[in-house]
Order: sequence, then C-alpha cells, then structure tokens
Amino acid sequence: MEKIRIAVLVSGGGTNLQALLDAQHDGKLPDGEIALVVSDRAGAYALERGRKAGVAVEEILKKECGDVNRQAVFEQRLETALAEAKIDLIILAGFLSILTESFTRKWDHRILNIHPSLIPSFCGAGFYGLKVHEAALARGVRVTGATVHYVNEIPDGGEIIAQKAVEVLPDDTPEMLQRRVMEQAEWILLPRAAEEVCRKLASEKEKK
Ligand code: GRF
Repeated sequence: MEKIRIAVLVSGGGTNLQALLDAQHDGKLPDGEIALVVSDRAGAYALERGRKAGVAVEEILKKECGDVNRQAVFEQRLETALAEAKIDLIILAGFLSILTESFTRKWDHRILNIHPSLIPSFCGAGFYGLKVHEAALARGVRVTGATVHYVNEIPDGGEIIAQKAVEVLPDDTPEMLQRRVMEQAEWILLPRAAEEVCRKLASEKEKK
C-alpha cells in the first residue's frame, strides 16, 4: 500500500515531532512517511531534529510574507510547499500560527493537532504552551491529559481522535505538569493517532 506523505508543522522545540520520527524509525508508522517539516519560527530546534532524521525542512516566516494580506501569502506559500512535497496529511505539533477557514476547509480531515489537555477543558484561543497547565492547576483539576483532534476553523474545536489522561500531583508546577503530560500522554498518543489516520487514508487511497 502507498504510504501517506506527512508534513509536520512546528514552531518550537519539536519533542512531538521527535516522537513521530522515532515511531517511524521503530516501524510504528508503517502507513505514513514524514516527508516535510515546516517551521513558522526562524531557527526552531524542531528543524534540526528534522534535518538529523534526513527529512526535508523549510522555514516559512510570516514577517517575510509582506504587509498586505500577510496571512493569505503565508498560507499560499505553505500550500506551495505542501504541493511540491506531495503531502497527504498535515500534523500540527506545537505550531503556533492559526490557520484560516479557507485553508482548513481544503484540508478537511487531513490536519491533526495535539493539544495538552483533555478537550473541551483548557482549550481554544489563548490556551497554548504553559498557559494550558497553569489554567489546569489554577482550577484544581486532579486529572488532565492530552488530545489529538482534527483541525477545523475553530481553535481546538475539530473532531476528537484520541485522548489520554494524566494525573495532577499535589505539588506540581506548570513545568512539571507539562513534562508529565508530554511523557505520559503526548509522545505516546500522537504517533498512535497519526498511524491510525494514515492507515485509514491509505486504504481510501487504495480504493480510488
Ligand atoms: C506541546 O505541548 C503540544 O501539545 C502543544 O505545543 C507543545 C509543543 O511542544 N501543541 P514540542 O515543540 O513538540 O516539544
């Protein structure tokens, strides 16, 4: 069966990208192939991870997309990179740019995102990075976790694919909780969900 070509979009350190690369290396992503890493931040360490794994990497920076219609130019450049690499599936792994509805519609059920909480808690506009864990601790929840979902025009609002719960411990700081959620949920959940979606897309491709 033909593999599903994946682009991973990143902005930062890329530990979730690393989990995907490791899964591929270990044969746990048999129906997918990570073909491109795109960063919207200059020099993101995730790019280095991609390069080390022999994957094509590209920076697409908003500030280089002009002052007029910057978002549209950015998305157009992204589309071009995705088309050139013949991408079938996009995975957002710590990607901080918001994609507009005109983009997400074109990629309906072909964009995944990982979010570090149990959606619908602590999600949506403004909930990213440590802010998510700060909010969970402030609310006093005893359980949090991570969610992989399809991406639509509503931030963190698309159909849920997989979730995993993680315990909150009494003396947790946001940093400690973030690390536990990554180790116990994100890095396990994302490669699994990616394979599940790739398997589905690959069998659909085969039928065509
Ligand atoms: C992760 O917590 C992910 O859930 C969120 O952004 C963070 C990215 O971390 N969307 P990394 O760049 O994968 O290390």
